[in-house]
Formats: sequence, C-alpha cells, structure tokens
Amino acid sequence: MIVYASRTGNVRSIVTKLDGESIEIYDGLLLTEPFLLITYTDGLGDIPAKVARFLEQNREYCKGVAVSGNSNFGHHVFGGAGEKIAETYQVPLVRKLDLRGYQADYEVIQTFYETRVKG
Ligand SMILES: Cc1cc2nc3c(=O)[nH]c(=O)nc-3n(C[C@H](O)[C@H](O)[C@H](O)COP(=O)(O)O)c2cc1C
Repeated sequence: MIVYASRTGNVRSIVTKLDGESIEIYDGLLLTEPFLLITYTDGLGDIPAKVARFLEQNREYCKGVAVSGNSNFGHHVFGGAGEKIAETYQVPLVRKLDLRGYQADYEVIQTFYETRVKG
C-alpha cells in the first residue's frame, strides 16, 4: 500500500506516476498491512501535523518514506519531513523529490515499493 498526504497536489501527482494501490491520509486511518509513506514538507522542514498523527497510530507497518519538498527553501530544510520521519521511526528515506519530481525519482520509489513493501 502507498499512503500519502498532499496539500497542493504535488504528492498526489507523484502517486499517479506509481503502480500500486494508494490511499490518502485522513484522521483515524488505521492500516493493517505494510506501506510506503509519501508526504510533503511543512513549516521549516517539518512533518505535516496530520502525517505525524497518522504515524503515531501506524508506525509498525511503515516500511519507508519518500518526501516532496521545494529546494528553494534551502538544503537545510529541503524535504526535512522525510529526514525527521526516517530518523524518528527508523525507516529508510527512499527519495527526496523537488516538487513533483522526475521520472528517475519514480523509478527509484517503484523499485523500493516492489522489493521492500509489496515483496
Ligand atoms: C507553508 C509551507 C511551508 C513549506 N516548507 C517547506 C520546507 O521547509 N522544506 C521544503 O522542502 N518544502 C517546503 N514546502 C514546500 C512543499 O513541501 C512542496 O511544495 C511540496 O511539493 C508540496 O506537496 P503537495 O503539493 O503534495 O502539498 C513548504 C510549503 C508550504 C506551503
């Protein structure tokens, strides 16, 4: 399963480039299977609040995280949500994407998904 959060549509666009079942995070969502998390970055390198709430409930099934950010924020905070999630929940940071990312990003994420989430 691919689980994602998107505020302005970039992550939603990334998810459409991937092959796999997906679900958007909502408050109260509980998963009972392994998932790849894809999120945007908020604040100054922060995890979006609803993603943080989701992870508190679902951390055991999280196999990795891919993150979208905007590199114009500067490299200290670019994609910071992904770094924080990887560190806090001890999961791989699969890829950082600038806004909607590129084909090479989708290929890396798809391979991870096939081998480490679905597989
Ligand atoms: C209020 C606000 C704060 C943001 N802070 C960061 C940031 O600290 N680091 C970063 O890389 N991107 C930051 N971004 C950029 C978003 O993470 C980026 O545009 C992302 O692609 C949005 O994904 P979405 O369209 O799926 O919501 C911020 C965007 C907004 C609106």
